Amino acid sequence: MGSSSSEVRPLSDEWRRSHFDYREPVLGQNLTATLRKMRQECPVVHSDAHEGYWIVTDYEDVLKVAQDWETYSSALGISIPATEMTLPAIPEHLDPPEHRIYKRLINPFFTPAKVAPWEEPTRALVTRLIDDFIEAGSCDFQKDFARPFPGLAFFELALGAPLDEAERVNALSTAAQEPGNPQAKALWGELVQWIKDFVEQRRSQPPKGDVVDAVIKADIDGRPIEDVEVWGVIQLLILGGLDTTSGALGQFMIRFAEQPEIPALLRAQPELIPQAVEELLRLDSPFAGVGRTAACDTELGGKSIKQGEKVMIYWASANHDEGEFGDADSFDINRRSNRHLTFGAGPHRCAGSNLARLNLRVALEELTKRLVDIQIPEEAKPIRFHSVFSRAPLSVPITFTPGPRLGTAG
Ligand code: HEM
Repeated sequence: MGSSSSEVRPLSDEWRRSHFDYREPVLGQNLTATLRKMRQECPVVHSDAHEGYWIVTDYEDVLKVAQDWETYSSALGISIPATEMTLPAIPEHLDPPEHRIYKRLINPFFTPAKVAPWEEPTRALVTRLIDDFIEAGSCDFQKDFARPFPGLAFFELALGAPLDEAERVNALSTAAQEPGNPQAKALWGELVQWIKDFVEQRRSQPPKGDVVDAVIKADIDGRPIEDVEVWGVIQLLILGGLDTTSGALGQFMIRFAEQPEIPALLRAQPELIPQAVEELLRLDSPFAGVGRTAACDTELGGKSIKQGEKVMIYWASANHDEGEFGDADSFDINRRSNRHLTFGAGPHRCAGSNLARLNLRVALEELTKRLVDIQIPEEAKPIRFHSVFSRAPLSVPITFTPGPRLGTAG
């Protein structure tokens, strides 16, 4: 091997070709351009960072890895993304057939029909959050809307947990996942304790017939589910929708400020919002990439991958692949085929995509209607992102024309 990653300038040609580090701080602001170069130069490339791993950036190969779970395992000691998380991520870190048992348990609670009745309370929540800043004509969109919204919605509607606890859990999970946070271990510990207490509480209450009850009572191949499995499933359900949904909303708002014709179009034709959500999710995928481990020697994109080697697939890159999407970097509301991979593909495809779509649609309906002339003040640019697998801006200060509060019935 040549020089080590520490001697090479981040984002340089050599860094991309041999030392790519998905946690490199400057990558956060330069992700789309860097991934474009990687797709063009070498869509399957090896890096010596993180004890060595492969990075896959083109659509076809990302899809192949995601679908071929027998070759690319989710269960063999995943180290990407690195995390101090102590509970098992179930079903994320399992392979079929075991994986299916848990997925079948949660899937029925997040179908389009199951989440549809949540639309009205979701809109009331969105209205209340916007009411809190609409008169001021400015806010930090990330702090005031994008971060609290998905947690509050999930706690109230899916978990039936108290809303003030959602704020604490949200803050804990954000801080625990901050790259290099020295307190990460302690914060994960606090989060796990909250989950254990919550499950205990739910066990002592009459059943509500929701996903929590289904998990607590689950039969796993003829035996009762163990506590650690219950906690692991609940943790993934809570965390799965927090950073992802808030990262999507934050990125959408940055795009709205840069391309005001998009919110103007959606204000004039709100019936386009569902397809706009898909196009925005393609352009600004918040779950940027994820790891797998080769279960056997294999070949991908002309490269030999050895059994046990780590492979990172970049959804955020596949979604900009010109081979799959014409004029891939542009917002095109009339795009004919939009087979984006923002919710993944294969057995691990997102369990919460219907809920995420509902949340994003309702949020955009209310935001585009009520926030006019959205701008990001010059002093707030460039917007900063942590460079991790989850792509969420840290803060999105915006200004807009002040408007009236609407209030809610509840
Ligand atoms: C815009 C929002 C969201 C995005 C972009 C997103 C993205 C993803 C992606 C890419 C995966 C696949 C990971 C892999 O292949 O290893 C995934 C899995 C998962 N997501 Fe989401 N997600 C979102 C919202 C949600 C919500 C709201 C929930 C809550 C129910 C959720 C729960 C899960 C779970 C439980 C899994 C694991 C599924 C499995 O391993 O089979 N997600 N998500």
